[in-house]
Amino acid sequence: MKRIAVLTSGGDAPGMNAAIRAVVRTAGYHHMEVYGSERGYAGLIEGELKMLSRRSVSDTIQRGGTILKTARSEEFTTYEGRKKAAENLSDRGIEGLVVIGGDGSFRGANDLWKEFGVKVIGVPGTIDNDLGYTDRTIGFDTAVNTALSSINNLRDTMSSHDRVVIVQVMGRRSGEIALHAGLAGGAEVILVPEKPVDFDEVASILNRGKAVGKTSGIVVLAEGACPLEEAMKELKERTGLSFRSTVLGYIQRGGSPTMADRVLASRLGVKAVELLKENKGGLAVGVKGGAVVTLPIGEALAIPAFFDEELYEQAKILSL
Ligand code: F6P
Repeated sequence: MKRIAVLTSGGDAPGMNAAIRAVVRTAGYHHMEVYGSERGYAGLIEGELKMLSRRSVSDTIQRGGTILKTARSEEFTTYEGRKKAAENLSDRGIEGLVVIGGDGSFRGANDLWKEFGVKVIGVPGTIDNDLGYTDRTIGFDTAVNTALSSINNLRDTMSSHDRVVIVQVMGRRSGEIALHAGLAGGAEVILVPEKPVDFDEVASILNRGKAVGKTSGIVVLAEGACPLEEAMKELKERTGLSFRSTVLGYIQRGGSPTMADRVLASRLGVKAVELLKENKGGLAVGVKGGAVVTLPIGEALAIPAFFDEELYEQAKILSL
């Protein structure tokens, strides 16, 4: 394979630039041309492809966001949209495509492969860590550390004022960010979509804390667990505590990627291009037990998102 393309799609994630850089430089190493599609699949449909050189990715490994920009393309969810995208690739003699994104982007990539035979490789880039075939997605580690740093700040002010804060973190339908940031931040309670929310139980944990002299607390709420307003109302009613709330929101999506995300992105970007070089397609790359793994995108998507039950139980023990 001599000519490939790369794009980022869906929500941006810290480390996407490190993945683009790895794709571009590995392609250069193997004497392949590489084109970037701007705004994900939207750029592919509009034929907005620009050639990338080793130098176009200089000074990007430490940057959050994505130099290729990203979008969630409605048109690409249609057969006609995907047909245009496939035609734009073949018109330019582009034989392979690296898609860096989450589950929605992977579904689109799989359709492009199944319907038009475009040799696609999926690289997992999302802060949510909700792709079950890989232990980690690019961006998760940075997002958790960003949330953790905010939780540390909140702890200072909550303890000064004898307050409890409910801090809402992202993750869509996954509680992974909440679990890891909550455990590392010493949260009293962690609420996740994978477990039913029981306000009586949460209130009794907070009241028990109060009875033994705790005057402040942190409740980490995954956005998919329940609405923040509901948690505030129900917990205020059941405890005599003073509550505040903080929504971390997009803060978690930006920022310079951590070492873990840069290394993960680099390893997976290199592997994606090596697979294309071998003329392979329709595959997802990830990590399992520290090793890089490869499997068909369809199979990867069929594996349910992993939630670490053991860690969740350990976090409960440690918060008592
Ligand atoms: O998938 C990443 C994510 O940040 C989720 O955690 C969040 O629910 C969603 O994207 C927000 O999407 P948007 O950027 O469309 O507001």
